[in-house]
Amino acid sequence: MSYILETFGLVKRFGGLVAVNRVDIKVRRNSITMLIGPNGAGKTTFVNVCTGVLKPDEGKVLFNPANDESKKLDITGWPPHKVYKSGFVRTFQIPQPFLALTVLENILVALGGKGENPVIAPLRHLWVREEEERVKKAFEIMRKVGLEDYWDWEAYRLGAGQLKMLEVARALAAGAKLVALDEPIGGTDPAYAHEIFKHIQSLARSTDVSFLVIEHRIDIALPFADYVYVMDRGAVISEGPPDKVANDPKVIEVYIGG
Ligand SMILES: Nc1ncnc2c1ncn2[C@@H]1O[C@H](COP(=O)(O)OP(=O)(O)O)[C@@H](O)[C@H]1O
Ligand SMILES: [Mg+2]
Repeated sequence: MSYILETFGLVKRFGGLVAVNRVDIKVRRNSITMLIGPNGAGKTTFVNVCTGVLKPDEGKVLFNPANDESKKLDITGWPPHKVYKSGFVRTFQIPQPFLALTVLENILVALGGKGENPVIAPLRHLWVREEEERVKKAFEIMRKVGLEDYWDWEAYRLGAGQLKMLEVARALAAGAKLVALDEPIGGTDPAYAHEIFKHIQSLARSTDVSFLVIEHRIDIALPFADYVYVMDRGAVISEGPPDKVANDPKVIEVYIGG
């Protein structure tokens, strides 16, 4: 089994509160790994510690974007921009979409390129071919996230779910190998929530991208998970395939108790 992300004994304290308490999590490559648990369980803090938003107090975070054990990165305590550049993107790390720009333009910005270089920009013949390639790449990405019909829509006209997919599209354009999504279906209706997860699932299956998804609407989300970790009060209390976790009495208890 090949893991793109592994944590070992990760700890984060806020004063006397242990928000993340010796957490060991493995994210399988080309999968959707889901982190569930009641409010305050420590899910967001865990992802923040992995992506450099917060510094861990103890433990290790290993990231293997190239699927090569000899190139595995120890990203423990790295600053957010360095984690992002290495290919581990947490969606809020990407600047909010430029609302006045179209879907296509937003993705082109995330792809970068010579067209934005003020010295090279006037020398159109030097970059026009590259520009064509970038547009082609942008359309490929839009197809993968189901936004191709909206390519010329300004971002402000998109619904909550489509904006989420635009964030994923921008992560892909930035070269992400692992995308962390914190409650991607928050604020969307159930029908579109299914759509979002279908796109994420097909991305995980058909491209070289893996997902770590935090969710609390488990009724909708759980069937799309390949592997699930359940957190409660800072610790992992259960893990396994969705059906196993859903039938674990400890999990049922924290969900009903909470
Ligand atoms: N910056 C912070 N300072 C102090 N306490 C925090 C901070 N962030 C989160 N917490 C606390 O840590 C615990 C875990 O929070 P969080 O990671 O947001 O949980 P979840 O995402 O699972 O709902 C909660 O008790 C929360 O109040
Ligand atoms: Mg949270």
